[in-house]
Amino acid sequence: MTNNLTIRRPDDWHLHFRDGDIMRGVVPYTARQFGRAIVMPNLSPPVTTAAMAADYRDRIMAAVPAGTDFTPLMTCYLTDTTDPDDLARGAADGVFTAAKLYPANATTNSAHGVSDVAKLAPVLERMEAEGIVLCVHGEVTDADIDVFDREAEFIERHLRGIIADFPRLKVVFEHITTADAVDFVKSCGANVAATITPQHLHINRNAMLVGGMQPHNYCLPVAKRETHRLALRAAAVSGSPKFFLGTDSAPHLRSAKETSCGCAGIFNAPYALESYLTVFEEEGALDHFEGFASLHGPAFYGLPVNADSITLERAEVAVPESFELTGEEIVPWHGGQTIGWRIAS
Ligand code: NCD
Ligand code: ZN
Repeated sequence: MTNNLTIRRPDDWHLHFRDGDIMRGVVPYTARQFGRAIVMPNLSPPVTTAAMAADYRDRIMAAVPAGTDFTPLMTCYLTDTTDPDDLARGAADGVFTAAKLYPANATTNSAHGVSDVAKLAPVLERMEAEGIVLCVHGEVTDADIDVFDREAEFIERHLRGIIADFPRLKVVFEHITTADAVDFVKSCGANVAATITPQHLHINRNAMLVGGMQPHNYCLPVAKRETHRLALRAAAVSGSPKFFLGTDSAPHLRSAKETSCGCAGIFNAPYALESYLTVFEEEGALDHFEGFASLHGPAFYGLPVNADSITLERAEVAVPESFELTGEEIVPWHGGQTIGWRIAS
């Protein structure tokens, strides 16, 4: 039995830090594990320009604990009025690593998202030319589409078209939740990849709805039925370079989750790596963990892998039921459970 696993330092290719006190509270959890993270721009107001992203990056850097080597990779929130020149300049200056497509009203703070993907053509053309990665929240938002079908429908209505029209555009289909998405990504060329969250590898939709409503298992895209979870697990542990780690850690205070209209999002940053590793162990695929966590993402983004490494060791760790954040409580992913690994200090 493997009791220690040393891998290149991993990166998180999709998460939410928020801003202000919450951001200062959550950044250290991520910086402790990951070398870099793709930081989502869905602040209020959203991060839509290179100047805003540069300022936000400075605020994040100021929250990184002294002596910790961590680099936030910034994203541009695409809107109906994104300026392709500002985006391209921001990327050339090293401010933007990617741009994020939120269909309008798909999720938290996405009211400014793109109302009609066709309108993005000049921006996507420029991104393709400049090699800027497109990160996609792949859900349609039409009221007549069932929430459990929104990802699969997005592939047919939008993603196929984007990839056909911009065949060299690098696209990350983010936080995929369905077998449909796995199959689609596999069917595409090397310019299309996907991130997978720990929660979608661990739970299906029963975890949200059986035995009472469980707001801390609610995120977007919502967890789907068991067949989809199994397809995601198979993809994650397969060793395919098309699938890599993106936690989608999305902190919301307990008070914002346990209420009559609870926010979508799971705060998984504190035990993210341990959570993923549990899945790889259950699947007998520890040898593919480093690829998923530390190698496939940099290869897709065209970035070097991290220079240092991290060691995980077998240990029974009781995950706190909640953490203090800004004087309030936040419930972490696996809160109140025991997890079988820890990061060796
Ligand atoms: C995210 C958030 O809270 O910002 N929520 C979530 O459930 N994942 C938004 C998102 O990534 O969809
Ligand atoms: Zn997200």
